[in-house]
Amino acid sequence: MNIFAHRGASGTFPENTLASFREAARLPIYGVELDVQRTKDGVLVINHDEKIDRTSNGKGYIRDMTFEEIRSYDFGSWKGEQFAGEKIPTLDEVLDVFKATHHMINIELKTDVFEYPGLEDDVIATVKSHDMMERVLFSSFDHEIVERVIEKAPYNEVGALFMKILVNLDEYGEMLGTHALHVSLVAAKRQAVKKAIELGNKVRVYTINKEEDYDLMEAIGVDAIFTDFPEKMYRHAYSKRYYK
Ligand code: G3P
Ligand code: MG
Repeated sequence: MNIFAHRGASGTFPENTLASFREAARLPIYGVELDVQRTKDGVLVINHDEKIDRTSNGKGYIRDMTFEEIRSYDFGSWKGEQFAGEKIPTLDEVLDVFKATHHMINIELKTDVFEYPGLEDDVIATVKSHDMMERVLFSSFDHEIVERVIEKAPYNEVGALFMKILVNLDEYGEMLGTHALHVSLVAAKRQAVKKAIELGNKVRVYTINKEEDYDLMEAIGVDAIFTDFPEKMYRHAYSKRYYK
């Protein structure tokens, strides 16, 4: 089972910052997940929320701020004084961190609150400018953008993200044109996910931070997990593989 560092190594570092991504890049895990948003002046930046209030000393919506303004805020101190001075990273900067590593990069397109028209074009162009298309898988809770990315990046995996417990997940994925289904832990325990896996879909589950949930996901047969504690989960996986 593959391990993705969720928002980088976000359990121990400030989520979606270069510190968090550098820590993930150091680990022998499969990949990293990050959330992309866009500033008023069109810069692709990495942050989970549409607002910066929770993870910085600033306030307001990213889409209403220029890059110069958003860069003036501190995205590290909320997690601990040792991270003071961390800035919001750009997609360019994060791709640079992983340029020379083996990690797959799951870019989550955060268009499920604001549409950010053309976000997928900007993201694809940025990834291409780094010559890293083969290292990326895309995902979104916004299934309109999932459809568009399937068309625009036909050689990339595009995951449909789900929050709720659904029925006929496999048929829905088929209709959308993807076999990559990214589901929550509660949904992963239900019938629709078991059936989707049996039918050959790649199911990836967020957010797995406990060893017992890791074991459960392995038993269910999921392809990958997203975790805030990639080192802890890797150690757990490693110990099971070699000492069981
Ligand atoms: O992509 C998996 C996971 O990140 C989806 O939820 O809210 O943490 O972006 P969220
Ligand atoms: Mg995410």
